[in-house]
Amino acid sequence: MAANPKIDLLRSKRAESHAGGGPERVAKQREGNRHTAHERIELMLDPGSFRELDAFVMHRSHDFGMESKKVLGDSVVTGWGTINGRLVYVFSQDFTVIGGSLSLAHAEKICKVMDMAMKVGAPVIGLNDSGGARIQEGVDSLAGYAEIFLRNTMSSGVMPQISLIMGPCAGGAVYSPALTDFIIMVKDSSYMYITGPDVVKAVTHEDVSHEDLGGALVHAQKSGVCHLVADNENQALLLARELMSYLPNNNMEDPPFLASTDDPLRADAELDSIIPDSPNKPYDMKEVIRKIVDDGIFFEVHELYASNIVVGFARLGGHSVGIVANQPAVLAGVLDIAASEKAARFIRFCDAFNIPIVTFVDVPGYMPGTAQEYGGIISSGAKLLYAYCEATVPKLCVTTRKSYGGAYCVMSSKHIRGDLNLAWPTAEIAVMGPDGAVDIIFRKEIKGAADPLAKKKELAADYTEKFASPYVAAERGFVDDIIEPRDTRARLINGLEVLQNKRDSNPARKHGNIPL
Ligand code: HXC
Repeated sequence: MAANPKIDLLRSKRAESHAGGGPERVAKQREGNRHTAHERIELMLDPGSFRELDAFVMHRSHDFGMESKKVLGDSVVTGWGTINGRLVYVFSQDFTVIGGSLSLAHAEKICKVMDMAMKVGAPVIGLNDSGGARIQEGVDSLAGYAEIFLRNTMSSGVMPQISLIMGPCAGGAVYSPALTDFIIMVKDSSYMYITGPDVVKAVTHEDVSHEDLGGALVHAQKSGVCHLVADNENQALLLARELMSYLPNNNMEDPPFLASTDDPLRADAELDSIIPDSPNKPYDMKEVIRKIVDDGIFFEVHELYASNIVVGFARLGGHSVGIVANQPAVLAGVLDIAASEKAARFIRFCDAFNIPIVTFVDVPGYMPGTAQEYGGIISSGAKLLYAYCEATVPKLCVTTRKSYGGAYCVMSSKHIRGDLNLAWPTAEIAVMGPDGAVDIIFRKEIKGAADPLAKKKELAADYTEKFASPYVAAERGFVDDIIEPRDTRARLINGLEVLQNKRDSNPARKHGNIPL
């Protein structure tokens, strides 16, 4: 058959577009253990599912020698594909083309996929690797960023948005990922900051490396900006796939159901003795969670940040659930500023996307002290309260041990529309712990006793029997049932199934005013 020159031209243009910034720059990219923009997409999506858009788009800048730097597709690859058969839209910035910098054309390509995703209700996953605003394009580039920020905001709560940071993400560029639901970073090869080390040095005289200023661990442990840390790019891409498996495609869908061979009625006798005899002895709440959820699989997010509270996804009887749990093994599970904000944001995500919330409670209260008060624990604690109060998804709660004071009210209590509130016999639901309580209400008696220590012990034992148990709360119906710990899995799965058609709503209003 005769060759068709028009098809040959198309093929050569496509190959040119695919080659990005050329072999030298691609080789440099690989030196840093980094994949190309196309490779990352191929690794993340189901094989062969990617359909590229706008491979022929080029930037339109003539200044500063840019005419000679035109590359087909410019510095971003966009399109759609599938993850486990479900549609997602993607963009992947190409650092080999002018440092992945954002031209107006680059921004328009991203905005196009975001608009399409919004119309069909599909998640957007952004792979970020960019030197930021294309300096040669000036305000055009800034306009492009602003258009993306607007779409990030309009899409929030409509379809999930996930950001992977695969290289630099500097300046205002950080705000697009920051507006999305989850940020995944790669150790030692990705960083996010408002200004880089040079500007930091000039302004504050601090000497700091890229990694120490904005690396994955810094944002996972200190700032809380990063939700998931990967050891390398492949792991980051797999984490995005795994995360997606718990999420619906949009706010009108239910999360995917994944049948499990794990018996929904499975009882775990070890749970009956997992709570230590001494109320101040820690145990690992994650162990409790793993014993209860399907196949012991708990996909924790924000693991390294505010570890005194644990959040993440799991399945119960095949149903995707968001788990929020106090962690007695870290700071006795106290609620502080960071923990409150971490949990509040997670709860709001679950509520926006119809993912039931299962809460495990063992909390001594809110963290006292000047550092917390000056830092605004009042507002931060209120964020958590607000998030639980406004959530209308099924809310199930298991109190394993302490549930004291304000923290009792906050942690998915019956009073703020908890749907199924269960307690283990080891639960202690009261205004405060026995020692603190008797010190306040029996101060005179203890002081005047022949043996104050023995008196305090006696009074505390009496208080424990009367108040530090689940029975007073259960008597009033504030706890729906007291269960044997081994039955927790079966009771939660039954509860989830009963609540499947739950309908609840909040008053009509433009929006509430969460204490940000
Ligand atoms: C134009 C850029 C660029 C940019 C990089 N390049 N960033 N071109 N605009 N923003 C070009 C470089 O000139 C170079 O081209 C090529 O990309 C590769 O960059 P290198 O510097 O050689 O790579 P590397 O040594 O790996 O350093 C990567 C980097 C550095 C740390 C990201 O390039 C950098 O500091 N870039 C500028 C970062 C920045 O300040 N951006 C603006 C942020 S403000 P040649 O042809 O020489 O190889 C911002 C505002 C957004 O983004 C506002 C939104 C509200």
